[in-house]
Amino acid sequence: MFSPQEIERIREDFPVLKEVVHLASAATTPMPLSSIRAVQEAIGRMYLKWDRAWAKDLQEECKKSIGRLVNADSTEIALISSTTQGINAIASGISWREGDNLVIDDLEYPANALPWYHQAKKRGVEVRVVRNRNYTLQMKDFSKLIDENTRVVAVSHVQFVNGFRIELKELSKMAHEVGALLFVDAIQSLGAVRVDVREFGIDAMSAGGYKWLCGPIGTGLLYVKKEVIEEINPAYMGFDGLEDKERGDLWSKVVTSLDYVRDYRRLSKNAKRFEYGYKNPALVAGLKSSVEYLLGVGIERIESRISYLVDYLLNKLEEKGFSTITPREKKYRAGIVNFNPGIDLGTEEKAEKLTTKLREEGAVVTVRGGGIRVCCHFFNTTEDIDRFFEALGKILASK
Ligand SMILES: Cc1ncc(COP(=O)(O)O)c(C=O)c1O
Repeated sequence: MFSPQEIERIREDFPVLKEVVHLASAATTPMPLSSIRAVQEAIGRMYLKWDRAWAKDLQEECKKSIGRLVNADSTEIALISSTTQGINAIASGISWREGDNLVIDDLEYPANALPWYHQAKKRGVEVRVVRNRNYTLQMKDFSKLIDENTRVVAVSHVQFVNGFRIELKELSKMAHEVGALLFVDAIQSLGAVRVDVREFGIDAMSAGGYKWLCGPIGTGLLYVKKEVIEEINPAYMGFDGLEDKERGDLWSKVVTSLDYVRDYRRLSKNAKRFEYGYKNPALVAGLKSSVEYLLGVGIERIESRISYLVDYLLNKLEEKGFSTITPREKKYRAGIVNFNPGIDLGTEEKAEKLTTKLREEGAVVTVRGGGIRVCCHFFNTTEDIDRFFEALGKILASK
């Protein structure tokens, strides 16, 4: 799918790959040069030239690019600063009713659990937890817990510990049959695998931009389906959350009439209602550039390259006799692999010690759940994986 020349060109776009073997896209991913330049250029235009008019359209352009990536309309996208912000917007914006329940699972990253539990506690909502089976989540276990009182089913598309990928199409069908919403934390999947919000039946989705999307830290997106937006009443309100007309009117009256502010009427009917405060144009420019870079490479090609690299990695693990908690079957995995290197990594101190040693050998990975989490993005190569195993072998041999 990718010629060696193309891979070489791609790697030129990520100069940091010359410095380190980067196998940690589930933590933070390098940005391509074009995005670094977009950020620098934006800062220069703003603060060196005082040229600001261009930043006005930037947000809309960024949302359009994100829309192309996930098959959504730009009006269904809000620009946010972290996955957690988007999750809180939905969890706190739902008008929970007495007797509602929320279905979640026990593999979630805290970002996709704490905001839900927090709201559930405040509003007396029952939380039902699907238990994983050997680090996988089964539809039959969701179907036992989802009923006509289920208001939301909240899952990650790809799990952060082992990369388990859930079948969203099946899950959304189950949720919609009882009138529940499907919420998806997509930070570990967007940019690595194809996401089509319409086809998958996603009602709301949040993702930070700094992992597989190769964007800047401090960026993210919240998608809310057109038909659902008005059901969700934002807990936080700001100038950006108003309809453009209302915003325009307020602009001229704000100094003279606080009453007018108090009696605002037109909350945006778009996902923009979840936005507030001034967004940093440099970060928006960086995210836009990264999303467009991925679109340029092609998300389906990226997905198949990742799958090829993960296959290579899983075969290596098998060869070396290391056990993994990542599913073998392609449809149940994405870019994350977690394996047990046969040493105790059960404390933060031990995990830190190993990752520091690996870093000294030039390899960047993370430790999660007592195993080594190795991630393959499209810019990685089989040589990266070989170099990682060499580094690990050296460390294990010296024990
Ligand atoms: C599944 C998942 N959700 C959320 C986050 C982080 O959220 P935020 O963008 O709010 O930092 C992570 C980070 O590792 C994650 O793995």
